[in-house]
Amino acid sequence: MTDNWKDIRINPDRFWANFEAQAEIGATGDGGVNRPALSEAHLAVRDWFRQQVDSAGLAFRLDGAGNHSAVLACGPAGGQTLLLGSHLDSVPYGGRFDGPLGVLAALEVLQVVQEAGLKLPVNLEAIDFTDEEGTLVGVLGSSALVGSLRLDDLQTPRGGREALLAGLARAGLDESCLLAAGRPASSLAGYLELHIEQGPRLIEASLGIGIVTDIVGIGSYRLTFSGSANHAGTTPMDARKDAGLGAAAFILAVRRLVLEEFPGCVANVGAVRFEPGAFNIVPGLAELILEFRSPRKESFALLEEALLALAFDLAEQYDLGLQYEFLGRHQPTPMSPAVSQAVAAAAEALSLRSILLASGAGHDAQLLAEACPSGMVFIPSVGGISHSPDEFSRRKDCLNGANVLLQTCLRMVYL
Ligand code: HGY
Ligand code: MN
Ligand code: MN
Repeated sequence: MTDNWKDIRINPDRFWANFEAQAEIGATGDGGVNRPALSEAHLAVRDWFRQQVDSAGLAFRLDGAGNHSAVLACGPAGGQTLLLGSHLDSVPYGGRFDGPLGVLAALEVLQVVQEAGLKLPVNLEAIDFTDEEGTLVGVLGSSALVGSLRLDDLQTPRGGREALLAGLARAGLDESCLLAAGRPASSLAGYLELHIEQGPRLIEASLGIGIVTDIVGIGSYRLTFSGSANHAGTTPMDARKDAGLGAAAFILAVRRLVLEEFPGCVANVGAVRFEPGAFNIVPGLAELILEFRSPRKESFALLEEALLALAFDLAEQYDLGLQYEFLGRHQPTPMSPAVSQAVAAAAEALSLRSILLASGAGHDAQLLAEACPSGMVFIPSVGGISHSPDEFSRRKDCLNGANVLLQTCLRMVYL
């Protein structure tokens, strides 16, 4: 095998035209997209992706979890597959880079390998995973593919069971095909994902490439404080069972707990809902959604315990009831050192400076890492902003990232 594969690069204009085209689907007019998993906008961008796969002359694959793939049979028939990908779904009113960058860079890699007529020891597949963002379940497509999805995970999903069933129906999917979408780990040669950093480290250090060492663990609960709805005008302030007070105290106490006792961890109350929810009624019920993250297994477990204990202490303090509903947990996960070395070698060969860094965001790669050697390539996020219409990465960084993905993929199979 000659070494000229080391000189192969992506087609920048094609890649960027594809990237800009996807950003128009479900666009919110302020630079962002609103494509929650299995929404009409998400299904529309998936249809568009399938058209690109067809026009590129690549094989299309759709599995029981709704994962959409382009497949290039550049390896032996029945041989292993090297997966490259990310996700086309977004958080509600999110950015246009988080996910699509990796899916379209993966598609570009397959097109370039196809055009170069390269024969590899493996087949290549560019995949768009279903519901990475967790507006329904969270890393749904990737957990289905690696076979770790359980029926239980679908009963109390973090987006609610009704929303899940409605989304599955819109996409023509059902629970049984989800659970049957697993692939044998032996069929996977590895997984690579290009993604924006979604934080400030690369941009502040003026570095073009991040090599991900670990991905953070993420856990979710729904907490419901219950008191007594009552007249807001006639009920004395010291005689109320105000569920809103419990929720407000919890939100403030969570911040204090994490800052003081769990350095390196984070926690977030992303939404609170009061019932009945009127000007003149003391809230009888306050429901909040809690997410917490840690880079280390030990502190992850301790943080979960401390947050629940805090909720119970405050419920007692404000004379309220408390119910909690577990909504999912994915452990902190290391990336493959061998894959990370291939990323570092590719970045160096492209004269790009890189650093090793942990990911504070969750990714499908943390599920694929359970099945095969997996790694991630980060590019800078301007201002470190993500999950916002202000999410932005520079074109040259995106192109560099796609070339690192291409060269890492070839290093993994040829060296
Ligand atoms: O929420 C996350 O960390 C990722 O963007 N899904
Ligand atoms: Mn993402
Ligand atoms: Mn995201």
